[in-house]
Amino acid sequence: MSLGELQIQNVRCIGSARLELHPRCTLIWGGNGAGKTSLLEAAFLLGRGRSFRSPRSEQLVRRTASRLTVFGRTLGPVPHAVGIEFDREQGSSARVDGQAVKSLADLSLAFPVQVIDPEIHKLIEEGGRRRRRWLDWAVFHVEPQFGEAWFRYARALRQRNAALKGRPSQARPWEAELVEQGTRMSVARRAVLESLEPYWNAIVAAVDCPRARIGYAQGWAETQSLSDALESARARDEARQTTTVGPHRADLRIMLDGKPARDILSRGQQKLTAAALTLAQLRLLADSTSVMPTLLLDDPAAELDAQHQAAFVAEILRLNCQLVITALQPQIPGFTQPDRVFHVEQGDVRPV
Ligand SMILES: Nc1ncnc2c1ncn2[C@@H]1O[C@H](COP(=O)(O)OP(=O)(O)OP(=O)(O)O)[C@@H](O)[C@H]1O
Ligand SMILES: [Mg+2]
Repeated sequence: MSLGELQIQNVRCIGSARLELHPRCTLIWGGNGAGKTSLLEAAFLLGRGRSFRSPRSEQLVRRTASRLTVFGRTLGPVPHAVGIEFDREQGSSARVDGQAVKSLADLSLAFPVQVIDPEIHKLIEEGGRRRRRWLDWAVFHVEPQFGEAWFRYARALRQRNAALKGRPSQARPWEAELVEQGTRMSVARRAVLESLEPYWNAIVAAVDCPRARIGYAQGWAETQSLSDALESARARDEARQTTTVGPHRADLRIMLDGKPARDILSRGQQKLTAAALTLAQLRLLADSTSVMPTLLLDDPAAELDAQHQAAFVAEILRLNCQLVITALQPQIPGFTQPDRVFHVEQGDVRPV
């Protein structure tokens, strides 16, 4: 699957743009502040319903406008038309093939997309939320039941938390659903992490990145069932008025010599590790599903030395997926010739 047409209105400095992306490798080049990352954010938005850079979508809307719209057409055996808008007043809405989408899962299925950007070290450095989201996107594609379990768990969690704030006695009826769906989520995540391991080991060797051990912290005591954990946490949950145990608190443990990788690795090593993890993830998807996501590479030359960069590029090319790459120059250091090139200057995008 790849993204063919991409139409953008009012995303950051981009007033209006229309690009025909190449199914293999498209380069978007331009100076600092020209709008390169903004174009990638627009593409990412189509498949994920959010930016990879800003937690709040209103930051994406052009300052002089009240709403943004992005439209895309995917190419492949089952092509899709995907459209998304974000209005400062009305929030977001999205359509796939003319139908309003019910959840982000619909966007994910229509246009699977992943990104490696200069901030990817945050996957190692920051809190668990980013890692959970990273993992869940892969689990969603690999384990067909996961989306439903996630959705039902999230709904039960909202209800239990609402009860804990008002009438704690009403919290208990939601727990059976939390246990059932939370356990399904956990089993699916573990299975995917297990499948990821050989890919991780292979990529570590190929790109010479720190050999971190990737483990799963399920979000409650390893020795307990989720049902027992909820029981043990009841008094604390009532006092804090929120659910303190469960897969919504899970995390990926990325460890080196028994210590969290973030405490040991340099910024460049964190970046390399996070990028390598993401390549392992994409390779797993390619082998175990029919999904081959589009990979957005924002300024891939930043911060890697020449040797690591060359190994990294070789692994990316082996993926054989659609690439959309940004660079400051009209060529991508270390990469082969792009199949299509756009130049962007002050938000104005033109084919070269
Ligand atoms: N909501 C917004 N409305 C209008 N302009 C914005 C908005 N948000 C950011 N910008 C501007 O958009 C411009 C393009 O930003 P972008 O990050 O896409 O540039 P870039 O080409 O990736 O630059 P760099 O090479 O420095 O990464 C910047 O000048 C930024 O200040
Ligand atoms: Mg940028």
